[in-house]
Amino acid sequence: MTKERETWKSHWGMIVAMIGTAIGLGNIWRFPYLCGKYGGATFLIPYVILLFGIAVFAMMCEWVLGRHTKREPLGAFEKIKFPFGRDIGAWGIIGPFFLYSYYIVITSWVIFFVFASFQGLYFGRNTEAYFASFLGSKWIFIVHFAAVFITSGILAMGVQKGIERACKIMIPTLFVLLIAVVARSVTLPGAARGIEFYMRPRWAGLLSAETWVAALGQVFFTLSLGMGAMLIYGSYLKDRWGIPMNAMALALGNTSASILAGFAIFPAAFALGFGSVVGSAESIGLTFFVLPKIFEVMPAGQIFGGIFFVLLTFGAVSSAISIQEPAIAWLTHEVKWSRAKSALFTGVILWIMGLPFILNGFVRGGLGDKLALLSKMDAIIGQLAIPIFGILAVIAVGYFMGDRGFDEMNKNARVKLSHTWLRFWIKAVVPLFVGLLAVLSLLGVLQDNGVIPEIIPAAGDIIFISRGVTPMTIVMIAFVCLLFWGGFAYAAVKVLTIEKDKKRRVRRGLHHSR
Ligand code: TRP
Repeated sequence: MTKERETWKSHWGMIVAMIGTAIGLGNIWRFPYLCGKYGGATFLIPYVILLFGIAVFAMMCEWVLGRHTKREPLGAFEKIKFPFGRDIGAWGIIGPFFLYSYYIVITSWVIFFVFASFQGLYFGRNTEAYFASFLGSKWIFIVHFAAVFITSGILAMGVQKGIERACKIMIPTLFVLLIAVVARSVTLPGAARGIEFYMRPRWAGLLSAETWVAALGQVFFTLSLGMGAMLIYGSYLKDRWGIPMNAMALALGNTSASILAGFAIFPAAFALGFGSVVGSAESIGLTFFVLPKIFEVMPAGQIFGGIFFVLLTFGAVSSAISIQEPAIAWLTHEVKWSRAKSALFTGVILWIMGLPFILNGFVRGGLGDKLALLSKMDAIIGQLAIPIFGILAVIAVGYFMGDRGFDEMNKNARVKLSHTWLRFWIKAVVPLFVGLLAVLSLLGVLQDNGVIPEIIPAAGDIIFISRGVTPMTIVMIAFVCLLFWGGFAYAAVKVLTIEKDKKRRVRRGLHHSR
């Protein structure tokens, strides 16, 4: 490598970029949705435990892998001699497509609500019905197209740094407005029930494997792990950036946004008549009909709501561009396409990939039916794919870098973590725990889709394996894995063919190295 790798000019620039990536719909939409679905505080407890026990370490490992190898995911895993490193690293390019396909659909809801709020369109109406009718209207096509166009446009022009800089103002302002929404929400008559739901755990629910699986997915999702994104950021990190403290700070800041969102949504949901929706299939749209109801009862709610959704648009778009960026980076660096061509190409694919979720909105039925496809995709990506890839980075550092990796983690760090402890935690505890939950998650997805019979009881025990799994179950799991990952493998092979081609050209000297 001849050219020295670009690093971030300031510590602050890096932090702002990371916050832009991490804070988004995961905090304001996904967290309240799952927290409601899995019983409020009953979800919050596993969430906090897994965030600080697992996800923070996974984030440190992605940074270590990136900074040590100074490569993108494709090269990073290969460089540390991880078996099938390039193939695994290819997920860092392909995986984001699946995530983006529905993430941008939710972004487009936010954009729609900017207009709906400023014009006060939903005031005085049943906001749940309003949201459902939006999902079956021409507007969803228009805003979805606009959302894909905006992010691709930003990337084509290479101005994403500008967006990140704008987030320096937008995200803190979003926090302030969120606090105002919380203040209104918790002072509504009848808010107490929501606060209780959010703060008092039902201990029996804590034994449900499903809750833990969902929480694990969420802690990885919210920190943008398991997609290679943090690994790429890691490759830009300066040596003087202390990894443990910054990982902790980012996790804390990011989580505070989620927890606040919970305080905004739950008290109001119970106070304003959506108590029965919390926990149902409809709760996937919770944010989008509870927030509008709060704006309705807020002073200057029309303007306030409009501004709130503008700020949230920044949070969502800054995440979306960083989901689309890896593919564009790869196309421009490795396939030598122009930025504009790469952005247009990925934009068109991503737009088409989003259409099934849009069309699903036109089916008759409740919100649960209209969002069935989206929630399935979200479960597969957020609860299965992201944690699995996320854990590969941990295994890579624990088993393929070992002490080198731990040294990298502690380099210039104010708080150093002892190697003995890291060895225990990163090599054993984290992979084992995540491995167990990944198996449970896979079984959960399969049984939700009727592929295998119900074997995880709703609030059951984690030791179900002894009575549930038969050889037939295993065959079926393998079959579904083959189906789902077959598509992935095909794409990966395509990517690798281009890579090999490139290498051959390098060897023949037709192509100068970067
Ligand atoms: N963390 C982002 C959010 O909370 C979403 C996200 C998940 C993401 N994985 C990512 C963003 C990978 C960028 C890259 O909204």
